[in-house]
Amino acid sequence: MSRAVNRSTRKGQATLVAVLLTLGLSTVAAGGSDAQPSAPQVWMVPALDALPDNAWGRTVRRGHALVANTSSLIGPEVRNPARRFAGNNLDCQSCHIEAGTKRFGLPFIGTFADYPQYRARSGAVGTIEERVNGCMTRSMNGKPLPLGGPDMVAIVAYLKFLSTGRPVGGATSGRGTAPLADLPRAANPLRGVAIYRASCAACHGADGQGLRAGFKGDAKGYAIPPLWGANSFNTGAGMNRLATAASFIRSNMPHGTSWDAPVLDEEDAWDVAAYVLAHNRPQRQGLAKDYPDLREKPVDAPYGPYADRFSPLQHRLGPFPPIRAAIKAMQP
Ligand code: HEC
Ligand code: HEC
Repeated sequence: MSRAVNRSTRKGQATLVAVLLTLGLSTVAAGGSDAQPSAPQVWMVPALDALPDNAWGRTVRRGHALVANTSSLIGPEVRNPARRFAGNNLDCQSCHIEAGTKRFGLPFIGTFADYPQYRARSGAVGTIEERVNGCMTRSMNGKPLPLGGPDMVAIVAYLKFLSTGRPVGGATSGRGTAPLADLPRAANPLRGVAIYRASCAACHGADGQGLRAGFKGDAKGYAIPPLWGANSFNTGAGMNRLATAASFIRSNMPHGTSWDAPVLDEEDAWDVAAYVLAHNRPQRQGLAKDYPDLREKPVDAPYGPYADRFSPLQHRLGPFPPIRAAIKAMQP
């Protein structure tokens, strides 16, 4: 017990030193003659508690609740059928860890400041509402939230709140998941079985179905989310891409892992991700229309058509370096 306390105190001190160093360095840079305006590099999460109890504060809190307890508010088991927007019982924070505040846990810090943006998947400039609905219809396997409706307004208000102090168009380091180098070989789902049994099954179950918070039908969602099957994300979701899943898993799983102290080695992250994605999940129709410019399609998109002649299996499992080289050679 006391050892654990000591360790966390030391870790706290190390973090403090790192924060001070970062602040110190950016002060020096700002004072220099060729100072560049730069995005804040410190991972700062605005405090929900500090929000006033007025219309704005209540709306942001409602957005936070929708992200944290999606299944209870707009999930497929909520009492009012008109409120059933999500198609599975995941919460946004099943993937956007700690309600989108964890560094490299697919956070929402800095997201609002980065939209509208060009989206290769649609081949057009998309709004933040369209991005939210991308996850509603793919990650949540459900229906889009009505634009301008109270749920969408609350979620976008929460996203704006999480970009407090972030310059529009400025980069926020820590978005997405930590970069993970390609393997020189194909990922091996069979090798992933043993890794899954050793590092994941205790929580997500040998059958990958997770653990419900309550009972089927009570709209309480999951204490531990399922990784495949009817209650998982669909085939069009970002998490259904091997590189996305592998880097998410390496930075965040087993639960409690942080990007700067990963538990799995890189190879194991790729192989266990391949095992997770080898299972059945809800099918999304119309995926062939994604990425109208096929040269912009990610190499690990698990559905065709493709601009190159590599096999669908290689797009699913790699090796990716030869595909990347072929795509690069196609750029005008
Ligand atoms: C199964 C995992 C999963 C769930 C559940 C999920 N998302 Fe996502 N979301 C992702 C991934 C992965 C990305 C990153 C990019 C991609 O699509 O490859 C993403 C990206 C986003 C982005 C863009 C982030 C950025 O910084 O550009 C927004 C906004 C978003 N999701 C909102 C939501 C909301 C709101 C919910 C709940 C209604 C939700 N997501 C549920 C996996 C998920
Ligand atoms: C200690 C329990 C625990 C362990 C061990 C664990 N997870 Fe998770 N996992 C969670 C929880 C809880 C979440 C939901 C996120 C949250 O609540 O922060 C999650 C979320 C996920 C998600 C995104 C949500 C979804 O349903 O798709 C994936 C993918 C995932 N875990 C994969 C893995 C893999 C692969 C391993 C093994 C390397 C693993 N997890 C080990 C508890 C665990």
